[in-house]
Amino acid sequence: MSEPIIASSSRLPEDGAPTPIHCLYEAELAAFVEARPSFVKGFVALEDFKAKAGQVLVLPTPQGAVDRVLLGLGTRGKAEAMLFRALPARLPAGDYRLATIPDGLDLGQIALAFALGAYRFDRYRPSTGAGEARRLVADETVDLDEVRAVAHACALARDMVNTPANDMGPLQIETIAREIAERYGASLDVIVGDDLLDQNYPAVHAVGRAAVPARAPRMLELTWGDAAHPRVAIIGKGVVFDTGGLDIKPSGGMRLMKKDMGGAAHALALGRMVMAAGLPVALSVLVPVVENAIAGDAMRPGDVLATRAGLTVEVGNTDAEGRLILADALARAAELEPVLTIDLATLTGAARVALGPQVIPFYTPDDDLALEIEEGAREASDPVWRMPLWDGYREAVESDIADLKNDPDAWAQAGSVTAALFLQRFAPTTGSWAHFDIFAWNPKARPGFASGGEAQVIRGLYGMLKSRFPKASA
Ligand code: BES
Ligand code: MN
Ligand code: ZN
Repeated sequence: MSEPIIASSSRLPEDGAPTPIHCLYEAELAAFVEARPSFVKGFVALEDFKAKAGQVLVLPTPQGAVDRVLLGLGTRGKAEAMLFRALPARLPAGDYRLATIPDGLDLGQIALAFALGAYRFDRYRPSTGAGEARRLVADETVDLDEVRAVAHACALARDMVNTPANDMGPLQIETIAREIAERYGASLDVIVGDDLLDQNYPAVHAVGRAAVPARAPRMLELTWGDAAHPRVAIIGKGVVFDTGGLDIKPSGGMRLMKKDMGGAAHALALGRMVMAAGLPVALSVLVPVVENAIAGDAMRPGDVLATRAGLTVEVGNTDAEGRLILADALARAAELEPVLTIDLATLTGAARVALGPQVIPFYTPDDDLALEIEEGAREASDPVWRMPLWDGYREAVESDIADLKNDPDAWAQAGSVTAALFLQRFAPTTGSWAHFDIFAWNPKARPGFASGGEAQVIRGLYGMLKSRFPKASA
């Protein structure tokens, strides 16, 4: 991706000022048009531009060059930064600046939205991605380093999710984690294959052992920051492909399962944001990476697994593999005594039945943390919805022969809730814990949101972490 945001001082455009973008509420359109040359009124009507939210109109000069751009904000009171994601795809190549900044927004949020909207996945068709860039000029009020770091991390997560399993296997995820670690001076511990048994990650091993040796299961542990700072653990489900295992998925359900490492991609991306910002935390990013494959030594329905925490788990369904590997990762986090643990996982289809692809359910027993998460999500326009760790469903994950089972009883129905209740048995009890049942995917393109891999909840979580762990001001 070429740089979509540039500083005002870094490069002055050769021919005149950057093209201005005017942001208009529906009610402001008529007055704006009246003040323009007379042909503008007809042009706006011809193009049916009503300043609806996210509507974009490129206004020409009488000679047919680009004069200015109009961006609709819809009805007053609803302008939100992510509207600006719609811009890059609608603009001719060139440099742009904002003529006006809507009340309640700042240029930094807008620049981030612009950068997110410029994302495209062109790994397998690089020629279609070529061409001149659309760039937004930021001024000195914008923390360009931060905007770029957040945009870069989101693009990384989307690239990882979009890249198919044949090119995004366990080794590739390990390599990405190593590159991030090296860049920020973090250390990376990797435990691969049968070493997982020696190092007491039995559930990660059981889920991943059926993969071919080159795609052996592994546990990644990235450690960064001053150990004297409060420890924050970020965990991500890294299932590079989920066939369902012996409880094989039907073809429709398997089609998108390259994205089942979305939690890992999100955890690494969020960790990267935290390190880039230099937040005063001791960071641990814990990523169990497996392929849920089918082979002679695949785990079977009915097998009882050991876990790192010492609890036994009956595998009622080999397709409920995410909670098994997360159990070991949460147990590892608990040993580090974090003040805060966040896990991110494409864990259940039921989360989508409840809230669809755009709103992400989260679970935490900590009411204060829930409010902070909601606040961060609102400010970043990164939607979440709190769901209950409902006590009445706890017995649905009790097994007849083991401590727990991974396939909840059908009577409880709420599959995302019962998955969260399963995880809670392994979550650290020092400090707070929150679980996000993410989707990591846009099933349908909409303005500024390409179809395919999407970064969800991590911009909001980054904002939450910044307020919880503020940098000492100089
Ligand atoms: N990776 C899937 C969940 C999933 C499915 C996420 C579709 C996004 C879209 C997970 O491993 C899974 O298969 N979960 C099962 C659990 C069930 C067997 C208890 C599910 O949700 O059906
Ligand atoms: Mn599964
Ligand atoms: Zn899965």
